[in-house]
Amino acid sequence: MKNKISVTIRGIESFVNPNELTPNLESAKTNLMVLREGKGRGSEFTGWLHLPDKTVSQTQGIKSCAARLRTQAPVTVVVGIGGSYLGAKALTEALRDPFGRQEHTLVFAGHTLSEDYHGALLRFLDATLYNIVVISKSGTTTEPAIAFRVLRDHLRNKIGEKGMKSHIVAITDGQRGALKNLATRQGYETFVIPDDVGGRYSVLTPVGLLPLALAGFDIDAFAKGMRDMAHSIREGNDTDSNIAIAYAAARNTLYHHGYTTEILISYEPSLVYLAEWWKQLYGESEGKESKGIFPASVSFTTDLHSMGQYIQQGERKLFETVIHVAEPHHRLVVPGADDDSDGIGFIAGKSLSEVNHKAEAGTRIAHIEGGVPVITISIPKIDEYNLGQLMYFFELACAVSGYTLGVNPFDQPGVESYKKNMFALLGKPGFEAERERLERELNARG
Ligand code: PA5
Repeated sequence: MKNKISVTIRGIESFVNPNELTPNLESAKTNLMVLREGKGRGSEFTGWLHLPDKTVSQTQGIKSCAARLRTQAPVTVVVGIGGSYLGAKALTEALRDPFGRQEHTLVFAGHTLSEDYHGALLRFLDATLYNIVVISKSGTTTEPAIAFRVLRDHLRNKIGEKGMKSHIVAITDGQRGALKNLATRQGYETFVIPDDVGGRYSVLTPVGLLPLALAGFDIDAFAKGMRDMAHSIREGNDTDSNIAIAYAAARNTLYHHGYTTEILISYEPSLVYLAEWWKQLYGESEGKESKGIFPASVSFTTDLHSMGQYIQQGERKLFETVIHVAEPHHRLVVPGADDDSDGIGFIAGKSLSEVNHKAEAGTRIAHIEGGVPVITISIPKIDEYNLGQLMYFFELACAVSGYTLGVNPFDQPGVESYKKNMFALLGKPGFEAERERLERELNARG
């Protein structure tokens, strides 16, 4: 199957020589094999590798559930955080018409503890009937657990205990956890997050697919994109056909050269949340054992008028990965004008994408000349199929890259530290000694 997404690492050639790249390419190739054979660290969480081949047979149930929820209410609140939130948010933001009336409105909750956010959400929900899709693999994550309690109370007051059952869907572990138990007790429709798929690799499970279907997008095209990319990059071991190897090797080579921050850039504002998803994927997978590239993101040309200055001339530890989108969905030409006082008459008649692409090309050269290596990922256009390809590519490259760096890309032990402290400070039973220590710290250090 033809792989329509390409990766170019020409923009790093003046920063690293081929001799430095070669060992990382070899290591990435070996690590792809290790990943495929299930012999690497965290291999019990590599079920996502095979999801594209399994998902075809599973989309019908998701579509039926989405259709039922859509006829039942005009709004659905999707509750979740981290990997149980960012994939759905990234996809729906990338695909939706930013100014169009949505056939079905998706709103998100439980990805923050903000009282103002949730208060405003309830005010909005006061005036409408809605469904709740609650997503949590562990079923015990504090942020979504709080939001789900608040929303359940609100919905109960609106339509009563009996009526609300059919308005709630749970996506969680198949066997255990507080949410699984509650869903079973209450008889909520439930979808399973497989045991061997961690949150940030779960976009091709009901975690990503149900919100995508609810928002009216084509989940089969998304799954096909993932499948085509899986076949293309799982099988090809040479870098020409295997863009995941090329990307993983390039970023590890740059990292060993002191380029410790990677900025993901796109010139399409609809991809801002894709960058948030990517940051979680790479940040949680690689940032451990005092190692890892710091993943950042900007949206150009908007941020060329803010962060552009730093990128051009600030501390030289940055490299960029640019997502180039070849084809827009709309065509809009810069109009001519009798009065050329704005000085842009020379671009009259050109499409906005032509201008955007020239801005991208000019920025690329300026940043390379300013000391910033550039990797470019080209995608034909923003649609379900290409987003499926892109997301699978990023997942596989991330796993290979993490192994190449020497870490377990499937755990996130560091996330526990803030939770422990928060629970202690909130007075959770069993955390008394820790609470005393933290309060002493707070008094001493503010
Ligand atoms: O990638 C991960 O594993 C995490 O970001 C989780 O998705 C996140 O912490 C939410 O966890 P849960 O789905 O258990 O509520």
